[in-house]
Parts: sequence; structure tokens; C-alpha cells
Amino acid sequence: MIKTARILLAGAAAMALAGCATAQAQPAATATSPTAVPIAQAEPEWARPDPKMDAFLDELIAKMTLQEKIGQLTLLTSNWESTGPTMREGYKQDIAAGRVGAIFNAYTAKYTRELQQMAVENTRLKIPLLFGYDVIHGHRTIFPISLGEAASWDLEAIEKSARVSAQEASAEGLHWTFSPMVDIARDARWGRISEGAGEDVFLGSRIAQARVRGYQGDDLGAIDTVLATAKHFAAYGAAQAGRDYHTVDISERTLRDVYLPPFKAAVDEGVATFMTSFNEYDGVPASGSKYLLTDVLRHKWGFDGFVVTDYTSINEMVPHGYSKDLAQAGEQAINAGVDMDMQGAVYMENLAKSVEEGRVDMARIDQAVRRILEMKYRLGLFEDPYRYSDEARQEATLYKPEFLEAARDVARKSMVLLKNEGDVLPLSAQAKSIAVIGPLGDSKTDMIGSWSAAGDRKTRPVTILEGLQARAGEGVTVTYAKGASYAFEDEGKTDGFAEALALAGKSDVVIAAMGERWDMTGEAASRTSLDLPGNQRALLEKLVATGKPVVLVLLSGRPNTITWANENVPAILHAWYPGTQGGQAVADVLFGDYNPSGKLPVTFPRTVGQSPIHYDMKNTGRPIELGAPGAKYVSRYLNTPNDPLYRFGYGLSYTTFGYSPVTLSAASIGPNGSITASATITNTGDRAGEEVVQLYVRDLVGSVTRPVQELKGFEKVMLQPGEARTVRFTLRPEDLAFTRADMSHGWEPGEFQLWIAPSSGAKASTPVTFTITE
Ligand code: BGC
Repeated sequence: MIKTARILLAGAAAMALAGCATAQAQPAATATSPTAVPIAQAEPEWARPDPKMDAFLDELIAKMTLQEKIGQLTLLTSNWESTGPTMREGYKQDIAAGRVGAIFNAYTAKYTRELQQMAVENTRLKIPLLFGYDVIHGHRTIFPISLGEAASWDLEAIEKSARVSAQEASAEGLHWTFSPMVDIARDARWGRISEGAGEDVFLGSRIAQARVRGYQGDDLGAIDTVLATAKHFAAYGAAQAGRDYHTVDISERTLRDVYLPPFKAAVDEGVATFMTSFNEYDGVPASGSKYLLTDVLRHKWGFDGFVVTDYTSINEMVPHGYSKDLAQAGEQAINAGVDMDMQGAVYMENLAKSVEEGRVDMARIDQAVRRILEMKYRLGLFEDPYRYSDEARQEATLYKPEFLEAARDVARKSMVLLKNEGDVLPLSAQAKSIAVIGPLGDSKTDMIGSWSAAGDRKTRPVTILEGLQARAGEGVTVTYAKGASYAFEDEGKTDGFAEALALAGKSDVVIAAMGERWDMTGEAASRTSLDLPGNQRALLEKLVATGKPVVLVLLSGRPNTITWANENVPAILHAWYPGTQGGQAVADVLFGDYNPSGKLPVTFPRTVGQSPIHYDMKNTGRPIELGAPGAKYVSRYLNTPNDPLYRFGYGLSYTTFGYSPVTLSAASIGPNGSITASATITNTGDRAGEEVVQLYVRDLVGSVTRPVQELKGFEKVMLQPGEARTVRFTLRPEDLAFTRADMSHGWEPGEFQLWIAPSSGAKASTPVTFTITE
């Protein structure tokens, strides 16, 4: 087969994410301008030439009828429900006739084998089905939601979570996960902020790669790896006003510098598939965007895998007002670069006619078919269609003790200590009676959050109450009262308050487990308020008024506006939705068996009115610092400070860390040089702990304005009490690349500030300045 050429373009064509301080060296530049950054040439294991495969596929495709080809481009759901599998009317005929090439929402070794048999034993060409599923943060053993995992800033832990997910999913007959979701999200109103890695380009790109590595391993043919999907391409997170599926209207520069880099990073890591997004970009729905799907993805980035739609997004091009009917939508999608149609059956029902009437080339159909069949081949399905559907392996794999242990470990690493006044935490040995209060204190169903499709929400999750009870020593009682409700409609009610306050009154410490119900984030879960829903805040105020020490344990998939709590509650721990072992992980942190090390991957606003808000904003021509306090004609609000409640990168520990001033290896470097910045971090407290050391840079003057700070490196270090470690980051000019005034991608000579700090904006010492010369 002739592969898509991996074109190395420089300058205007290169939209690659620049390398990073901790990343591996980029291949040598073939740039036309000395400051332009070439795209990295990725060559995943699965994309290597395989003449045997090419010959096999040539022969197969030559035998296929147009209908059989379109079948391979069709993905349908099995409509699996908890009562058992069902599918749309006539599904058996569809599979047996080869009208379906892939199925999602069907798993277990038994069920996938049954469906596979229908395809292989009944179709003329015996082409096996591909089974996909949303395995997002664990398959059976559920890990913290993706945003929570991102808060660990621990790439090894994140990769491990994806690895375990792949092991469990593949043991249940699955070949393909619709993950990672790599959409940058900067607006907490958007419910899908919970599904990604947060607001930052650099952190998001590294996490995207860790997840792809975890799912795919280094051999797609191994039976315990699955195809990964980079989704949703592209700019889905920029939905206007945070309303899901809403219009996106951003500049080309913002697309390139903010929204595309994590996708490019996934391509570099060898991701096998891409999923389109529901939104439009520059007036064109993503599933009809030749610019995104062909010009960028194929021609500039050299992606060799296949592209699937997000659900019925081809059909949705009609209500978008981009296609006059489904037939046109199908033509626009296939011609733009969509290979597989998920669930909408647009290709199935219209594409043959479009080809026969000459509006779609057979060559384009063959190309899409080949991309899909190639993945089936690489997975080993032509050799043995049932190789992933092995009941004995399934039995031996699910919920392995080591998987549960990994889930607990990632969960505690994901938690962020937001406040700890008077060292309320860790819980003291003197606390003999612990009151757990709040709707999330003993709720199994909420522990695993949204998109935990195959996760058991009824019996397996360990609740906070159960976790604390299991850990509390002899003579310590842990008792529960729900007290409040997170249901929107319960705001103003006080039904459970008396019972909760009575319990608080006779306890030594109150753990208030509050936040959002599990499905208040995720898809189609946007909010215009970020406050604690229901009557939780009212109860929290009353709990604080008892005078008992209160610890707020937040469970939620987005930044909430907890300004009142920050001022009045002594200790706050963000636990996201921590997964199957979440209750134990919360206990590990609250009792101090684990010293919290998470840092926020998103900015927490004080009020929803600050949204969208992110740490790497521009300075504006009237920065607030220019005016005297309270000055009117500067960029600010009349009623709220500009600063967020909690910064991106922020999180406390039970110990403290000191940062030395930064030293630089040189004050000035040339185009081919590099600069090393170092700082010594000391554990100045009396407990061992991990610190996420962060490197920020500001490009002072550019051909276009530049953010006031950008994360360019991070390292998580474990330090014993009193121990000091020097952390070093090396930057090259290309690490500072961006989309310049002429739309080329590259760096610019000039002056830069740099600092090493425990969070964004928190300049631990005076920034140092360096120059890059021409
Ligand atoms: C979501 C995708 C998901 C797909 C399949 C869509 O509604 O946007 O993220 O992978 O459904 O379940």
C-alpha cells in the first residue's frame, strides 16, 4: 500500500507542538527559516511497512463489492443495556450481510464472540468485526475521572491507569477505546471539562501521550493492548458560554496554539484513531472539515490511522445548516476525510448512490476501507477473529488485586489539598468520633463519576464512609448522616439538617462530603452556576457554626465556586470522582497514610462570571497592576478581583517546600543553543512528601502578543524531611515556538522571563531573564 506521505513541513505549514523541556529530542530541523520549527516525524510501530499485509489487503479489497466496503465504514451500537444486549431491529441481518464493520457498546468475551461469529460465519468475505467502547478512566476497575488523574501530574501513574484499562477491556473482547479525550477546557461551565486533562497545552499534551502509550503499549498485535482514539477533533472545549455542542468561534492562531497541540502530541505518540467533534470550526462542522481532517491531520501531521465520527455528527450537519440532506452530509464527510460513520447510518444508506453518481470517488472509499482493515489486520483479527474473546482470560483478568491497588494509588495521587488551616489534617489520633455528613459521604454510585460505562456503580465502589470506617483505629467511631441534598430542586430545603447537626455536635471532627452528583459533569452536563448544588452550602454554613473542625471533601468533575468555603472551612480536599477504591484513597489522605501531592490542572474561579478563565491569559493594554488599587479604567471587574480562587498548578502538602532562587546556565543563547534553569527544592517540613516543581516562561515581546506565563516543564520529586534536590529544566528556542504574525510556527529572538515555582503565578523567587539572539 502507498502510505500517506509523512511530509515534514516548515514554517507556515508546521503546526507542531514545539518540544518541551522534559521531552525527548526532536529530529533535526529541516526548516527553511532558522527559527521555524519542523513537525516531528512520528513512525508508530503499527505504521511500519508490511508487504505481507499490503498484499493481503490488496487482494481482499479487490474482491469487495461497494456495499461490503461501505459496511466496513459503518459502526453501530449494540444498545447494550443492564438487562442484556439488544440491538437495532435487523442487526443480525446487518452483520451477516456485511453491512456493519464495527460495533460499540458490546463487551464480554461471550457476547463479542457471539457477534463475531455472526460476521465471520455468515459474510461472504468473513471480515471480522471491530469492537469499540468508551473505556475512559478504567473499564471494570474504575480509576479517578480523567481530570482527577491529570491532577496527579504523574505521567507514570496515568499511563498505568490506561494500561490496566486496556488489559481489562481487551480481556472482554474489546479492541478499541474512544479515549483519550484531549480537548483543552477552560470553561468550568462545560460539563466535559471532567473528561480531559484540564486547561493547559503542555500538561495536556504530555498526558495525552501517556494515555496513548498506556492503551496501545508498543505492540497493537499484543492481546492486552487496544487502539486508542484522540478525541474530539477539534476545539470542542471552546463551546460558547460552556454550553455543550454549542458553536465554536476562535481564531486560527488559538486553534493552532491551544487546541491542536495535544492532538498533534497524540499523533506523535502513534495514536491509531481520531474522532471528530460535534462543533463547527470557522463555520464548518468538524465532520465536514477538509481543513481539519485532511489538510492538518493527514497532510501536515502525516496521520496514518482512521477517523471515526463522534456519534451522529454526520447527520447533525443537516441541522447545523451545512448540508441540505443526509446524502449530501455523507458526501461532505467522506470527502473531507471521515473514514467511519458512528451510529448515524448515513454512509450505510446513502454512500453507494453517491459513488454511483460520481460525487464520491471509489478511490476515496478504498482508502477509508483500507485504513480500517489495516487496523483489524494489525490487531491480529484476520488470523484469529476470536483472540480477544476468551472467557478464561476474562475471568482471570478483571478486578485483579493489583489493578484495584493501582486504582487506589492513582486516586490518592489525584487528590488536591486546597486548604489546611491549623493543620486540621491529617486527622489527629485524638479524634475519637468522626461524623461523615453530606450526600456524597456514602454514595457508591457517585464514587466512579461519569463515563465509567462498564463500571459497577452499585456494589463495588468503596464509599468515603466505608473507607474511613475500614481505616479508623479501635475505639474510633465513624458515623454518617446525609444531611443535605445535591439535587438542584432541593435548594432551600432543610429536612436533614437537624439530624446532621446533632451528629456533628457529638463528634470530634466533621467530614463534609459534598459536591456534584456524578452526572452533573460529562456529556450534556453544562451549568450556568458553579456553586454547590442543592442545599449543601446552607448545611455547610451550619456545620461550621457548630465550632467543630470541619473538613470539606469535594467530589466533583469541574472547578466549583467554593469561595465561601475557602474563607470559612478550615480544611478542603478535592477528591474528584476517585473511582472504585475512592473511599480508601480518601481515608489514606485524611489519616495521613498518604501525603497529598496533587496540583490543580484547571483554574478555579471565584465566581462563574470570571469564566472562561485560565492561567496563561494575555496581559492586555491595561493590566490591573498599572492602576492604583480600585482604579477604574484598567482591565478588571467592579465587584470581583481578577485573580482566581485557586490557581492552575496549586495544591498543598502536609509538609512544606522551599525554593531557592533560579540559576541559569547562560544569560543568552543563540538559535541552536539551549539553556538550563535550576532551582533547589527543600522539604522544609517534618514529613516525606512529593512536590510538583513547575517551570514557567514569559515571552516579553512578540510579533503577536504572548501570554503572561506558559508552563514549559514540570517534575514531581519525592523529598524526605530536610532533603534538598536540584531540579533542572533544559529549554531550546523551539520550546518557545508559537504561531507568529505571519502564521508560521516558530520562535522569535528576544527577551524572556523564567521562573520555577510551586504553582502558576506564584513566583517563588524573582524571575530571571534570558535572551535568545538571532
Ligand atoms: C461522545 C463521545 C463518545 C461517543 C460514543 C458521544 O456522544 O461525545 O465522546 O465516545 O458518544 O459513546
